[in-house]
Amino acid sequence: MSRRIQLFCCRVEKKPRDTVLILVLCFARIHPPEFFKNKYAVDEAHYVTEISSVLASKKPAVLLTLRGVNTDSGNVSKEASFEGISQFNVNNTILHPEIAECRVIKTNMELEVLRYTNKISSEAHKEVMKAVKVGMKEYELESLFQHYCYTRGGMRHTSYTCICGSGENSSVLHYGHAGAPNDKTIEDGDLCLFDMGGEYYCYGSDITCTFPANGKFTADQRAVYEAVLKASRAVMRAVKPGVAWPDMHRLADRVHLEELTRIGILKGNVDDMVKVHLGAIFMPHGLGHLLGIDVHDVGGYPEGVERVEEPGLRSLRTARRLQQGMVLTIEPGIYFIEHLLEQALHDPAQACFINNDVLRRFRGLGGVRIEDDIAVTATGMELLTCVPRTVEEIEAFMAEGQSSAKSFHCLSSQKQ
Ligand code: GLY
Ligand code: MN
Ligand code: MN
Repeated sequence: MSRRIQLFCCRVEKKPRDTVLILVLCFARIHPPEFFKNKYAVDEAHYVTEISSVLASKKPAVLLTLRGVNTDSGNVSKEASFEGISQFNVNNTILHPEIAECRVIKTNMELEVLRYTNKISSEAHKEVMKAVKVGMKEYELESLFQHYCYTRGGMRHTSYTCICGSGENSSVLHYGHAGAPNDKTIEDGDLCLFDMGGEYYCYGSDITCTFPANGKFTADQRAVYEAVLKASRAVMRAVKPGVAWPDMHRLADRVHLEELTRIGILKGNVDDMVKVHLGAIFMPHGLGHLLGIDVHDVGGYPEGVERVEEPGLRSLRTARRLQQGMVLTIEPGIYFIEHLLEQALHDPAQACFINNDVLRRFRGLGGVRIEDDIAVTATGMELLTCVPRTVEEIEAFMAEGQSSAKSFHCLSSQKQ
């Protein structure tokens, strides 16, 4: 569909999320419509008080307004209305799937903004890794991340509430909310799982770094971390247009199960573990999601794409086949979540694969998530995120960072 937009100037209280109509707030002096036409590169701009007369002068056969269910949140976007709309023939159903589709495939300009949000957010994560010290509160690092994004990147908002879990909190998937506001003191031996992303001109980023608070992984932390990294990199190698996203989730799950077997936490045949959905005990969320104007962006389940109703897979926010221009997160994780482990240990079909003596050692470790943002290209993918990722890179970076302000030179952000 055409991307022509008309711009109406008015005051808004908060930025719109599920709409391409750009509404502009007041400045010290009222700019003429021409100012907004140029600023936003749209075809026309008018004051909101003129909506009815301008539209009437165009004699439209139909006005399309935006109403529809967000397949991710379940929220209904409410269509715009204005005084005098009743004189028009209005359709509020055609537009929503079209706009969602426009948002799924990014233009080059959108990709440029997403590269920027990733660049600044990656740098901010590195600042955090350099600054972290045992004895700090988790929120001190949240604050540092936000400060860096704003002062260095002009990014006033984050794409979501920062998740700064240390120790056992690293296994709480959406830690950091009002009930658990990143307020634990970071202890020696803790793993930190920091999931934070800055936002610029409404476009987000969504990056998770997991690292040891004291700068040195224990053998067990390293084993789990490298299992997740292996899954992440296996998915990155497989990503290209045509690939079904649920298959990427299955791939990550399989690598996790193989690695957990190698570590000794699991025993037996991996194919049989897959049959009883053992992967979802350790990774109870989806592998990743579309990213853009919303951190969990729209368009995940268009008509004809069905949710896979199986543990783990049902949490996927999209089940689409990949297409060039999509931007997604790849965020495998392994977590030791008490109630899920207990559930598995009480289910004979799953318990038979668990080596409880070894598992006991890992309970309390928390979790590891490695989350990168990628753009699907014609032949593979472009990695947008640029942070230290291997154990060696993280330990070297943190050691350097604690003694000086040396920067990490990213080797892994070339196009794949
Ligand atoms: N930060 C939320 C998510 O990873 O989906
Ligand atoms: Mn994410
Ligand atoms: Mn995240």
